[in-house]
Amino acid sequence: MERMSEWRFPGRSVAPGRLDRPQRGGRHFFQLVAFCVFVVFGQSACAAESVESSALPSLAGAYKGRLKIGAAIEPEQLKTGVGALLASQFSSVVAENAMKAAYIQPREGEFDFAPADTIADFAQKHGLFMRGHTLLWDPLTPDWFWRDSIGKPASREVVLARLKHHIEVVIGRYKQRVYAWDVVNEVIDVRQPNCLRDDRWFRVVGADYIDFAFRYAHAADPKARLFINDDGTARPEKLRCLELVVKGLLARGVPVHGVGHQMHMSVFEPSLAAVDDALSVFARLGLENEITEFDMSLYQRYRSESLSDTPDNLLAKQAERYQALMGVFLKHPELTAVTWWGISDADTWLNAVPGRKRSDQPLLFDKQLRPKASFWSVLRAAQ
Ligand code: GLA
Repeated sequence: MERMSEWRFPGRSVAPGRLDRPQRGGRHFFQLVAFCVFVVFGQSACAAESVESSALPSLAGAYKGRLKIGAAIEPEQLKTGVGALLASQFSSVVAENAMKAAYIQPREGEFDFAPADTIADFAQKHGLFMRGHTLLWDPLTPDWFWRDSIGKPASREVVLARLKHHIEVVIGRYKQRVYAWDVVNEVIDVRQPNCLRDDRWFRVVGADYIDFAFRYAHAADPKARLFINDDGTARPEKLRCLELVVKGLLARGVPVHGVGHQMHMSVFEPSLAAVDDALSVFARLGLENEITEFDMSLYQRYRSESLSDTPDNLLAKQAERYQALMGVFLKHPELTAVTWWGISDADTWLNAVPGRKRSDQPLLFDKQLRPKASFWSVLRAAQ
């Protein structure tokens, strides 16, 4: 899909306070539950309905023993109905932004753990798994990484020492609570001959910065599962590049355990076969796969302002496609977790296009936190 880096960073998409839990109850509420439960077994569509989150069948429960079902979250959301949905519907959580380097270590040696701690404490209290996202990502590597004490460009040695310290401190703090880390994020660029992004990490440290990041992470927590995370992995040229880089890591004995497939996608693409191929390539290498940032835009392109069909038709298509994709995921025993990039359509990064009017609805719950047809179809896929 078309990239949007110029407007999406640093990208905190949450507007706290918009997420109050709908007030519902009584006979109406039970009728709806009965209707939707019927629908789960009866294979028909169930549009967004008002149901108390505690009364819904749980996605986490439906996939228990097979897949972790996760969601990205901002700490402010935890006190709202979104927190209740997270605890009742999901078995895993990831910080949407709080663990990115620019937020967790905004100045050298000054760590701001409070937001990530809020999420980690919530996870612990509610028995959720937690993913760590992300230890190294060029756009959110703070500027101080690149300057030495007198403001000159920092050397490779200084940058690597900073990376080591950052990884040791962050992993050290969440050891035993975070089961998997996205060690590096979006390092692939298909236009480069060696497939690596020509970013600051590459220019200052060299191609082996990825090896260092994984080795530091493994030393900091030998039990953690370590992932290389990227977007567009179902595009053949991206997949080829990612495979090349991952094979290089494995050949050099770098401790990489899995591939994170972001899977920000649309109702139109990529094809199920392309998704299956992307997973198969790494399964064949003996690696784990995780879907790490799942969402499904109704728009053809990230920047579009108009939909190509009615929202109702597109939402029905979304539900069908979510179900089919879950079917693909379930055929992959090496795929261990599916994490959505958000919980409700009220708070999705996909609507944060400056200057553009969009009303995307990529997730499983609608803006009022009601389960959408896509929720029921994902549930149905587990039956
Ligand atoms: C990338 C990053 C995520 C998030 C999204 C949306 O996919 O990996 O952390 O920032 O972009 O902005």
